[in-house]
Amino acid sequence: MLKAKIAVLVSGGGTNLQALIDAQNSGIIHSGEIVLVISNHADAYALTRAEKAGIESLYISKKELKTQEAFESAIMTALEERGIDLIVLAGFMSILSERFTARYDHRIINIHPSLIPSFCGQGFYGLHVHEAALAKGVKVTGATVHFVNEIPDGGEIIAQKAVEVQDGDTPEVLQRRVMEQAEWIILPQAVERIAEQISNAN
Ligand code: GRF
Repeated sequence: MLKAKIAVLVSGGGTNLQALIDAQNSGIIHSGEIVLVISNHADAYALTRAEKAGIESLYISKKELKTQEAFESAIMTALEERGIDLIVLAGFMSILSERFTARYDHRIINIHPSLIPSFCGQGFYGLHVHEAALAKGVKVTGATVHFVNEIPDGGEIIAQKAVEVQDGDTPEVLQRRVMEQAEWIILPQAVERIAEQISNAN
């Protein structure tokens, strides 16, 4: 059986990318292989993580390419050239157009740091998600892995895990707990599940 070829798209620190690399090294991910990391920020620490793990990495700049269309075309070319089967958005801070998402129907997954449909959609990214959860006073939050379609955070849900909000939480403290107790666990599990389905069909 051929392993699914995985590309991870990142913008920042890349702790979710690291969780995927660790899961690959420990065998949790065995039906797929991360062969490419793409960042839209030149200084993303995620690029260093990829390099350290011996994974090819690319910086694709929207600023230099000027339009969303040219930016997405450059990403698509990189994916096609390497025969990528599965695209994982792991803290990728750029919304992809329908032209892109329709081309990879059920082949793009994203990790979102809340229990969708709470605190998701336009404007809910990074710390804003946790600020909104604390402002609302929810006692439970969590993370969601979902397929990506043209609606921000609107695609079919693959996995969710709940995390308790504690008294005195700041957005930063809550963000860290959601990562440790949910994101870094369910993202690798979901990637393995989808990669297994793809490799069975390959
Ligand atoms: C995570 O909270 C993820 O859910 C969100 O952005 C953050 C990325 O963190 N979409 P990292 O770059 O994986 O450390």
